[in-house]
Amino acid sequence: MARLPTGVTIVSATGAEGPAGATANAVTSLSLEPPLMLACLDRGSRTLTRVREAGRFGISVLGADQAELARGFATKAPQSEKFRDVSHVEREGVPLINGAVAWIACRLLGLHDGGDHEIAVGEILDLGGDGGDPLVFFGGEYRPLDAIR
Ligand SMILES: Cc1cc2nc3c(=O)[nH]c(=O)nc-3n(C[C@H](O)[C@H](O)[C@H](O)COP(=O)(O)O)c2cc1C
Repeated sequence: MARLPTGVTIVSATGAEGPAGATANAVTSLSLEPPLMLACLDRGSRTLTRVREAGRFGISVLGADQAELARGFATKAPQSEKFRDVSHVEREGVPLINGAVAWIACRLLGLHDGGDHEIAVGEILDLGGDGGDPLVFFGGEYRPLDAIR
């Protein structure tokens, strides 16, 4: 799958303990009518626990200048540390990363078995974003769009 170029997102949710988020590229649109998204989350992901509790999740599609942020959210650092210096807002009850090229707020419709992952299916409640060039993950590296060749 290193040969499949993907965008890079932060999947996020919030609760009494504050926001949680993880870098995720197993994210895609699922249905147009109704508008649904899916995100595959490792069973060991703390963000998955927060998504389950919140019944909502956000997807922030990172921009080409946000690779550092992708690295930070791909760690097991305390969630409060992950978010400490990251500008974010809450919409529809989900935390979203400021400066993302696109963001999508979803209501969790269900969690489905996906081996060592769970497949979160969400109905889109709201979406937006700042536009611009996305960050791309390809060949195990973060790259700007114009470096894909
Ligand atoms: C480029 C990239 C893509 C990733 N995609 C996913 C993904 O789709 N689903 C997932 O569960 N973890 C994915 N991960 C791993 C998580 O970001 C990582 O396990 C993180 O520490 C989980 O944090 P959490 O336990 O706080 O939720 C990815 C990591 C990288 C670097």
